[in-house]
This record gives sequence, C-alpha cells and structure tokens, in this order.
Amino acid sequence: MNIQLNESTGVFSLTTEHTLYQLRADRTGVVLHLYYGRRAGGEMDYLIRLADRGFSGNPYELQQNRGYSLDTLPQEYPGNGVGDFRLPAVQVRAENGSRSADLRYEGYRIERGREEKPGLPHVREAGETETLVLILRDPVIGLEVQLLYHVFPRQDVIVRSARLVNRSGEQLVLEKAASCSVDFPYGAWDVIHFHGRHNMERMPERTRLPRGMTSFGSRRGMSSHHHNPFVILCGRHATEDTGDCYGCMLVYSGNHLEEMEVDQTGSTRLVAGIHPDGFAWTLAPGEGFDTPEAILSFSGEGLNGLSRNYHRILRDQVIPRRFREKTRPVLINSWEAAYFDFDAEKILRFARAAREMNIGMLVLDDGWFGKRDDDTSGLGDWTVNEGKLGCSLRELSDRIHGLGMSFGLWFEPEMVNEDSDLYRAHPDWALTDPGRRPMVARNQLVLDMSRQEVVDYVFGAMCAVLDGARIEYVKWDFNRSVANCYSRARGADRQGETAHRFMLGTYQLLARLRERYPELMIEGCSGGGGRFDAGMLYYCPQIWCSDDTDAVERLEIQRGTSYGYPVSAMGAHVSAVPNHQTGRRTPLRTRGIVAQAGTFGYELNPEQLTEEEREEIRGQVADYSRYAPLIARGDYWRLGEMDDAGDYTAWMFSAPDGSEALVSLVMIHVRANGPFPHVKLRGLAPEAEYRLEGTEQRFSGAALMYAGYSFPQLQGEYPAMQLHFVRMEEKLHV
Ligand code: DGJ
Repeated sequence: MNIQLNESTGVFSLTTEHTLYQLRADRTGVVLHLYYGRRAGGEMDYLIRLADRGFSGNPYELQQNRGYSLDTLPQEYPGNGVGDFRLPAVQVRAENGSRSADLRYEGYRIERGREEKPGLPHVREAGETETLVLILRDPVIGLEVQLLYHVFPRQDVIVRSARLVNRSGEQLVLEKAASCSVDFPYGAWDVIHFHGRHNMERMPERTRLPRGMTSFGSRRGMSSHHHNPFVILCGRHATEDTGDCYGCMLVYSGNHLEEMEVDQTGSTRLVAGIHPDGFAWTLAPGEGFDTPEAILSFSGEGLNGLSRNYHRILRDQVIPRRFREKTRPVLINSWEAAYFDFDAEKILRFARAAREMNIGMLVLDDGWFGKRDDDTSGLGDWTVNEGKLGCSLRELSDRIHGLGMSFGLWFEPEMVNEDSDLYRAHPDWALTDPGRRPMVARNQLVLDMSRQEVVDYVFGAMCAVLDGARIEYVKWDFNRSVANCYSRARGADRQGETAHRFMLGTYQLLARLRERYPELMIEGCSGGGGRFDAGMLYYCPQIWCSDDTDAVERLEIQRGTSYGYPVSAMGAHVSAVPNHQTGRRTPLRTRGIVAQAGTFGYELNPEQLTEEEREEIRGQVADYSRYAPLIARGDYWRLGEMDDAGDYTAWMFSAPDGSEALVSLVMIHVRANGPFPHVKLRGLAPEAEYRLEGTEQRFSGAALMYAGYSFPQLQGEYPAMQLHFVRMEEKLHV
C-alpha cells in the first residue's frame, strides 16, 4: 500500500520509491501539510509549531488559542478570506456576494487505480496507482472540495487535482480553482521557470524566491511560448546532479498561473492551476467542476534527477499508449523547403529525393487546402485544393506510399481566416467581442471551440480529408494567441467560462480523432512550441519544439525544454543553411547531431543537396535508426550546469541498464589554443568496462563518470562530436 492512514494520529502517508508526502486533518478540520520530500520514516507532525503572531488572527472557535492561525499553518488547499492572508487555492462567489471559503475536513476514500478525467487530459493509470480522495467542505456556502492525490510509486510522482461540487441550494461562481497548493514551511528556495517567445521557447531562468509573491503564467488562451506551465523549486545549492528539487507541471494547454508566496516567517506556498483572470465558472446546485491535473515530483538527485522523473511519467503515462514503444518515422517536412509554393509534382520530387536518403515519411505542410497561397486566406476551408496540387490528395498520397513512404498532413483546426467560405457562412463562429473589431494575428481569427457545433464541424471536415487519402500523421498547428475571448453562444454571465470551454472543445476534438483514427500520429505545434505542454502530449506523442530550426539556437531551446519534457516528445529537424531564422551557417553534421536530440527529421529542399550531403544524410538516418531506442527510451542527462556560459553544450543518453551511452557535444565558441572540452558522464555502471566505438579505447564506467572524458580541440564553425560507449561483456575487478 502506497497510501496509508495512521488511524491513531490521523496522518496520511503517500509513499513512492524515493519520496514521502504527508498530511493530516487537525482537530478543527483544517487539512495540514506536514511534509513532502525524500522518503523518511516517522510522522512529521512535530514540524507543526504554533506561535502567537500579531495580525494573524484566529478561527472563532479557537480564539483562546492565539497561537493557532490559518495564516501561519501549512495547508493542503487553503481557502479564502477567513484568516489565511496568503495565496488562496480557491475563490468562490456565493449568491449573496460573499467570497469567503473555509474548507474543513469531512472524510476520505482510498482507492486502487484512478478514475479517468472525462474531457480532460490526465496521467494515465499505471497499474499500481493508488488514489487518496480527501473530502473538504464549507458548510456555510455549501461548497464541497474533493482533493485527489494519485500516487505513482515507481515514477516518484504524485498527481494532484480538485473537484469542486456545489452542495448548496444556490448558485456558486468559481473565480479561482487551483489544481494544487503545496506549502514548504521551511527552507529557502530558488524557482526555475521557463519563459520565452516565438522562436525561443522554454528558456530556463533561475532566481531566488523573494519575500512576497512571484508568479508566472499565460493569459493568451494557450499555454504559450512565453511561460510554460511548469516550475521547479530547488534548494539554493542544487545543481544538475545534486540537491533537492520539486517540480509542478500542469496537464493543461490553456490559461494558467503558477504563484509562489514567501510569507512573514519564510514559509513558501506554491499554487498552480487555471489562470483566475477572466475565469468565472457557474455551478448550479449539484454541479461539479474538475480542475486540470498537476504533476508533482521530487528528486534529491538534482535537476537531472527531477527531469528523468518527468520524462518517465510523460513517456509512460501521458502520451497515447500506442506510441509509447513505437519508433517514430524520420520525416521530411515541406514547410521550409517550399512554404506555400508547391504542387503535387514538386512534393513528389521531394519525396523521391528523400526516399533515396532512406527518409520514411513526407509531411505536406500548410497550403494544400481552400484558397491558400499565403497566410491571408483559406483557414477553416478544409477541402483539398486540387487545382493547386494538380491532382487529388488520394493520388498524391498513393504515389508517396508507392515510393515506400508514409504521408502526413498539416491542419490548423481551431482557426479561421476572414477570407474563407467558413467565415463568410458563420462569422459568429469566431471569438469576437460585440461592437469591437477583433485583434488579428497572422491575418486570422480564432474559432469558438467552446461551441459544440464548431467542434462538430471541424471534426467532420477533418474526417472527410483523413478518410479521403492514406494519412498516417497530422501536424496540428495553432498560430496565434487568443484575444477577444467572447462567445456569441453564451450569455453575459457565462463569458468567464469561454476560455476553459475552448480548451475542453479542443480536447474533445483531439479525443474524437484519436478514437476514430487510433493509428494516426498527431504532432502538436503552435507556431513552433507555443503549446508544448502535458495537456497536448496526452493526445500528441510529439510536439514541434520551435519554429527556430537554427542548430545553435536549438541547443538552448531543446536543453530548456528537457527540464520538463522528454526528447522523444521534441520535434527537431535538420534545416538548410543559411538558416531561415538566423542566417547562420552550421555544418550538416552539427545540425544532424542537434536534431537527433529529438524526433529526428528534415525540413529542407532535398533537391538542392549535393551528392556529398545526400550521402551524409544517409549516414545520419542510419545512425538515428540505430540509436533511436536509446534516444527515445534511455535516460537523458544534461552535462554541465544551467548557468555555465561555456564554449560548448553537451548532453548524453544512457541505457537504463548501463549497457551503452551516447554523448554529444557542440562547440559554440571555438578558441585558438583553447582548453579541451571535458565532461563527466552519467548513468554508467561504475564497475563495468566500456569501449569507445570506432576505437580500441576502453574505460571503466567509474573513470568516465568521476574523472570524465576530454574531447580533442575541435576547429571550424560550430563543430560537433558524438561518441558511443558500449559496455564490454566482462566486468572489471576493481
Ligand atoms: C507554424 C509552424 O510552426 C510551422 O512549422 C509551419 O507549419 C507553419 N506554421 C505553417 O503555417
């Protein structure tokens, strides 16, 4: 049993292989947080100390005990307006206008497994999952909150969410409903968050949490390029491989907020969930609301340790099961090769050239439908533009399959151009404010996915295309932020539901497509990596990491992404030089090594390659196919520290059984007479002997990990090296 209640003390202990999470309801019914961290015996009740602190008042029934204040106690789901002046997890408006919520313990259930979350992406049952449901209630407003804790013992993960139910006879309006709140009563923490912009997503920034409030989030109707729904709290001295690190990742793709508050005594609270700005969800009597899930994890083995926990849970329990073990195809995408300028013959020429280099799939990007020769028109009209292609989509896809390749197609399902038949027929299907001209971005508006008829229409239109040709892959794009989030189908008092209902509509569409085409692989995308989150990963096993395909920039983007997300989810392609985003020239070898830290593919005009380059690409595809299982399912390690402003970037994959390792290094700054790049390997068996492939050199695992490996001085523009170490059969006697 990984969830245990000590009946005599009332302490709940949630245990994973290396971690412990403890809580209990005290005698007034306040659910106290006792501990989260490295697994340890005993009960941490002794950490709760009471002190009379001025201006931190007391619950009415405890006014004689001036040491007892909600304002100073660590709690599991803090209410609002009743004495805890720190961040609330919940804010509810009752019919009489009161916004106070005081949640007290009512009971619990412990269940084997976990229930599905209807309509919401979630962490899938892992066989040994157990669930604790705590029931809290505010009898005055009739709000019941069920706190859910799903324990994933092998992954060192606890998934939290809340279900809020209106048990009153009146209407309640949820203005804030966090997925989780975690108090860290002791310790000083750094926060690492992942900010960015289009073409430069998920840049880690580490900063000391100051007193007061710090927050990150998105109000763009999407998880966004700008702030990923993932934060890490770590000890001040934590490094990539040492120290205590906590992660909190939302399984959600819409507006989100991660808030932290360091209070008067230095205690830290972390609250994460749907962004409360603009959110107002009405619950009629008896109705309930499910928050998105938050994946919590702890590692005492530094940031790399924490990342590996997230990689494992996302790979094994979040992405669609069917794709867990499946080797993804090496693909060529038409976007940077042709943009909107193509016909079927050109695409077929790309396919033939790619096939000769053993590339397995051709993806036809934007421009194949409606009237779409640039980005001013056509979105929403998902009918094949046979005039432009010069043939039907079926014929094109059959001919590509005839070459022995599979075929993929681009969609941007949630968008519409004003210049489209769809918009002309249904202008009210776009999100727009009454009487106001909407914000336009890339000439497009956002469809109102909160309306069932819109979801049904898009589903029908996509199915017609997918049924009309052999299509194994869909690239699902989303190319603007959501503004004017007003639904013409909803009353004034319900507009605060639109943004979340929009996400529910998108998730429903994805789920219906997954169900109807279980073999179809959907790659998420949003102007690159604007919706790179665990919510999308529930439907899409991989997501295009960034529109920036420059190998040097990608080093940072992919490294930043790796803190939370596995490389098997990161769409990464080799593109042409000079690079279309930066104008930089990097060697083909370097571009190949960088794209191999992702779901490898190409995004260039293969007809423009020299014979020498074609030969090199054949070698890259062969290498990738050989290393794919290690890259996709091995342990990933960032080598070197986050803030190293070094001359090179290095990373590696190690087989979980220590049998092999693949080490990659790219020089960003080559120096005359410079030092030798040096890395310490990770994840090897210390007592085993390893051979460096292609040489007779042998090393002990311990030597490679503790003394490290020094690379030769590399020369030229952005040179790169990749080393494959293979464990020898016999063991070293050390
Ligand atoms: C943005 C994507 O990230 C690109 O890869 C490409 O698909 C374009 N959209 C097409 O409009």
